Amino acid sequence: MNWIDAAAMEDLWDGAGLGVTVQGREVALFRIGDAVFATDAFCTHGQARLCEGFIEGHEVECPLHQGRFDLRSGAATCAPATQALKTLPVRIDGGRVWLAIDAGGAKVSELSFSEFESAARARGFTEVLERQWAAGTVIDTHTHAFAVEARVVQGEMWLTVGDTTRHLQPGDGFTLDREVPHAERYGGEGATFWVARRNAAP
Ligand code: FES
Repeated sequence: MNWIDAAAMEDLWDGAGLGVTVQGREVALFRIGDAVFATDAFCTHGQARLCEGFIEGHEVECPLHQGRFDLRSGAATCAPATQALKTLPVRIDGGRVWLAIDAGGAKVSELSFSEFESAARARGFTEVLERQWAAGTVIDTHTHAFAVEARVVQGEMWLTVGDTTRHLQPGDGFTLDREVPHAERYGGEGATFWVARRNAAP
């Protein structure tokens, strides 16, 4: 496992969160006594920063709509949050907090683009390509005339459909039917994903 130095233990206040950016990825750190928990920076219900949330026991309460998550597992424990939060392995050593930041990336290397393409074409997708988005790109709500199946291979993005936002990282996939309104936002390194499209029947 590749451990990355994320913060000094002395910079973390007991019972509070701290937002950090590690290798271009935004992460929230929470200190509870001598333990530290690391999660995605943003609430799975919306765009709120969880490091600004309220900690009670081993849970953090989102500052925007008071959804709650268990910091040990990432499980959503109170509505309106329903989707679990991603957690990262943490190690404390030498007064520093270390994160296994690339834990999700290994899944991507298991699949090549040509394997993704042939699997998608076998399921009736007619166009398969790689798309790259610049850092910080924001695309407001829009629709496509084609159905989409995609897999993130680099960077991170947030996909909002209705009132649910998903944070997607390398190895994560998403599907969208045609004409489904959605919005996209890309992280500090931009993002690359492989996408298969299925056009409407003529
Ligand atoms: S943004 Fe966190 S509960 Fe709505």
